[in-house]
Amino acid sequence: MIPTVDSPTATDVRSDFPIFEEPLEGGKPLIYLDNGATAQKPRVVIEAMTECLSRYYANVHRSKSRLAMRVTEAVEAAREKVRGFINADDASEIIFTSGTTMSINAVAQAWGPANIEEGDVIVLTEMEHHANLVPWQMLAREVGAELKFLPLTDDWQIDLDRIPEVVTERTKLIAVTGLSNVLGTVNPVADLAKAAHAMDAKILVDGAQWAPHEPVDVRELDLDFYIFSGHKLYGPSGIGVLYAKREILDEMPPFLGGGNMIDRVYLDHFTEAEPPAKFEAGTPPIAEIIGLGAAVDYIRNLGWEFITAHEARLSQVAHAKLSAVPGITIYGPAPEHKAAICSFTIEGAAAEDINFLVDRKGIAVRHGHHCTMPLHDKLGVSATTRASFGIYNTEEEVDALVEALLAARKRLKLD
Ligand SMILES: Cc1ncc(COP(=O)(O)O)c(C=O)c1O
Repeated sequence: MIPTVDSPTATDVRSDFPIFEEPLEGGKPLIYLDNGATAQKPRVVIEAMTECLSRYYANVHRSKSRLAMRVTEAVEAAREKVRGFINADDASEIIFTSGTTMSINAVAQAWGPANIEEGDVIVLTEMEHHANLVPWQMLAREVGAELKFLPLTDDWQIDLDRIPEVVTERTKLIAVTGLSNVLGTVNPVADLAKAAHAMDAKILVDGAQWAPHEPVDVRELDLDFYIFSGHKLYGPSGIGVLYAKREILDEMPPFLGGGNMIDRVYLDHFTEAEPPAKFEAGTPPIAEIIGLGAAVDYIRNLGWEFITAHEARLSQVAHAKLSAVPGITIYGPAPEHKAAICSFTIEGAAAEDINFLVDRKGIAVRHGHHCTMPLHDKLGVSATTRASFGIYNTEEEVDALVEALLAARKRLKLD
């Protein structure tokens, strides 16, 4: 069936992804429920990268050869696509990095010491991925700042009632994930942006998990920094985005020195290029940038209407069906407050054993602390199993997971 842009189904979408064409070793079809770790790649992304590497590859922003001009144009076209994807004001606000981790570290190391000093406060939440926690711990240690945490309610949402107590005049930054990689909670980013701005502080949103699941308009939400990775967005790994408002980028010092980021270099000093070049020293991941542009086009063609409706239904079905598995505890808020992620434990079974046994059935999930050790401390478990959904997953795959979990219970002699 040829997928139609207007009303695709998950089965149509699936046919866009070559990985699902071949069964796994042993003949079982791949059921991929590990999209929170990384997503599979549609043909259009693979082809865009292959075309660049095989037909028009050269370095960017350097030579005036026709080849180099063509690849530079393709890279800048991808920047423009990403700008449109998040509705940034200007393409110069889109900085290409290697991923979310690098983007957050770049802000912490470059913007941080220039704007945060001893006694200032950085506000985080109790559900942050280590990538949005450790860089701030490092900065706080370096400059003598304090970290404060917005606590979670009993149903695993950020407790907004605690804002007045936690976000004060000493706050310089609120850094928060848009969507928890464990709980699936979708956070009230607009409220947090208002709370930050009321104190003249900035807001940084970690969109690593959020970007593939919901449309984000950085201007409407008034975000100062918005960050995400290509590989979770059906694009390549090794490429990510750091969005920041232009006035912030104008003031922020560069975090890498070298070629491309300079205006003029003397033996003893240099002057900076304008953003985005100021923050893109060295040769960028050229084919990956082009692949990210293709991924963004792919998502926009599919349409957010389909993606959000399909994933909301899948999430609710998964919650309802998994809840019926004996001994299961599902972590996170009620399905209407979460997106596409279902983390759980089964009483008496190690998360590692569950992962191993469902993998035998051709189902890829992930177990462990998912780079959120403090959140797992709060959950009172050292590891969970996470099923995370994407645009190509189906209700039949949820059924297969439930069956595999029931079989795992038997294998582990829990029944
Ligand atoms: C919420 C969140 N933030 C940050 C990251 C880090 O992303 P990356 O490994 O692409 O840098 C992840 C990855 O799982 C994540 O889930």
